[in-house]
Amino acid sequence: MEEKVYEVPADWAKRAYVDDTKYRAMYEASVRDPEAFWGEHGKRIHWFHPYHRVKNTSFAQGKVSIRWFEDGTTNVAYNCIDRHLPARAKQTAIIWEGDDPAESRHVTYQELHDEVCRFANVLRNRGVGKGDTVTIYMPMIPETAFAMLACARLGAIHSVVFGGFSPDSLASRIADCRSKVVITADEGLRGGRKVPLKANTDAALERLGNTVEHVVVVRRTGGAVNMEPGRDVWYHEAAKMVTSECPAVEMNAEDPLFILYTSGSTGQPKGVLHTTGGYLVYAAMTHQYVFDYHDGDIYWCTADVGWVTGHSYIVYGPLANGATTLMFEGIPTYPSISRFWDVVDKHKVNVFYTAPTAIRSLMQAGEEPVTRTSRASLRLLGTVGEPINPEAWEWYHRVVGEGRCPIVDTWWQTETGGILITPLPGATRLKPGSATRPFFGVKPEIVDAEGKVLEGPAEGNLVIADSWPGQMRTVYGDHKRFMDTYFSTYPDKYFTGDGCRRDADGYYWITGRVDDVINVSGHRMGTAEVESALVAHPKVSEAAVVGYPHDIKGQGIYAYVTLMAGEQPSEDLRKELVAWVRKEIGPIASPDLIQFAPGLPKTRSGKIMRRILRKIAEDEFGNLGDTSTLADPAVVDDLIHNRQNKR
Ligand code: WTA
Repeated sequence: MEEKVYEVPADWAKRAYVDDTKYRAMYEASVRDPEAFWGEHGKRIHWFHPYHRVKNTSFAQGKVSIRWFEDGTTNVAYNCIDRHLPARAKQTAIIWEGDDPAESRHVTYQELHDEVCRFANVLRNRGVGKGDTVTIYMPMIPETAFAMLACARLGAIHSVVFGGFSPDSLASRIADCRSKVVITADEGLRGGRKVPLKANTDAALERLGNTVEHVVVVRRTGGAVNMEPGRDVWYHEAAKMVTSECPAVEMNAEDPLFILYTSGSTGQPKGVLHTTGGYLVYAAMTHQYVFDYHDGDIYWCTADVGWVTGHSYIVYGPLANGATTLMFEGIPTYPSISRFWDVVDKHKVNVFYTAPTAIRSLMQAGEEPVTRTSRASLRLLGTVGEPINPEAWEWYHRVVGEGRCPIVDTWWQTETGGILITPLPGATRLKPGSATRPFFGVKPEIVDAEGKVLEGPAEGNLVIADSWPGQMRTVYGDHKRFMDTYFSTYPDKYFTGDGCRRDADGYYWITGRVDDVINVSGHRMGTAEVESALVAHPKVSEAAVVGYPHDIKGQGIYAYVTLMAGEQPSEDLRKELVAWVRKEIGPIASPDLIQFAPGLPKTRSGKIMRRILRKIAEDEFGNLGDTSTLADPAVVDDLIHNRQNKR
């Protein structure tokens, strides 16, 4: 197959921080002597006390320990705000675009300072200090960024929970990190529809007993909500009682900054823990180089701050760089399918970063909703969250970017803190569908099932051989789980959970998860979580969940469900189960297809053979592999015969 290659546009080679020659030299230096490289680049942020020790990391079996800049002290909020004030007090830090196109707001760095200090004082008055955890369950409004930065200012650890999660999901995340303070809003607003955030919070707290002492409620829609006297306080009222000065607490580089829960192959979501110094250095540096961010650029990442992309590339990376970052409350299709491009024109966006699923869904509506807008300000496009198919890449490039904007296809994970494999727009020839080459300091390797490192063009599993500053440090409260999950499959290496191919040019092509994690519209879902939600339903006896290829979402959720004896499958029950999962986890976990199965394929020892279920969901019946270990081979015929297909 002829591979398409896009050269670096001439104007990009000229304006960018790095061209190909410089990339190669910097990359080579970064992996040859990480101490020297990061010792130098660590200085890009302000340190109250400079570090002397740069890298102290080990991936060794049973002894995994990751420490960067460990004797330095700093504060993330200081770096994202105070440090910029002499030059940027009047510059816009955050452009907020509301769900309603008539609503937008510019927050300058000075205002950001004042708002964050006020928020920090409100929290401090409620006992929040260094090392405390605060759960943030908020819509996409500037106050969400203020709340995160306020925690960072005080040295508190925030745990942002995506506003689309259910009360149960919120409750288990509050319980896991034992937050005594929760920040939420009356309601969120998306596509003209209200999201009952405060009501969900109330429901979550009811399940938890009296563990949460304070709920700070930001008024967004003005909708009626219940306020629990003594526990709940309106933010706008509390903020009136405090000043706009609050000192930034001096933090050690390795003090925790935030927890973010993410799905894995097994069990409950785990609390990915990121710390202060290395995370910020890495988020800021990748933001600058990957998006080639220059002063004055208007930068827009469409992610939600409930995900890591929002943490690193809406809030921390851009603000550490003194950038202007756009925060969008709404959805791509409201009030019209041109919304993204209308916002680009309205705010003269230069850099636009989104998910492949959004591109695929907009593609369906044809070119006109795009071409009727100008988009003249756009210079660079980016994608994140899942593999992008070449057709969607080409459409994004040709229609949205009019052939003049390079696309940075950025591969990374909640665990990695920042982008690990990506083109640099002034340096990298692009191949549609490839995340291309490693960022500075990143050592990807491809290994086979036995862990043998494969050289040259190869396909296998993706591991990273050495640490980088943005790497997660542990699973909150469970270091053993951290080591078992990421460092035991391939001893002494970080295992990503992704499959990958490397071509003859050394370009990396991510092929998707190789574990029981599925990627639905760029959102990570553990199949185990959906299964446990399904079996919690009184009529369900057993469930197995797998991913299947979905034209828009990338992967859809396919659930095989065995009912309790005496229960009859029906369309109504199918709907009931979908609604049930939405209620248990949240809308992002809704099964796309449910197949009622009298039995699931199991080994004689009772283990469900997911490989077979995956093949059936993917329509690959001819290729089921070895079925000789099945306890009851007839089960498979029934599954094939009754498979669901609504693609
Ligand atoms: C997938 C999102 C292909 C991958 C930042 C990874 C990608 C998981 C890409 C992490 C990409 C992310 N190409 N696949 N450019 N970016 N992924 O933790 O499977 O929500 O392991 O972090 O998304 O998802 P997470």
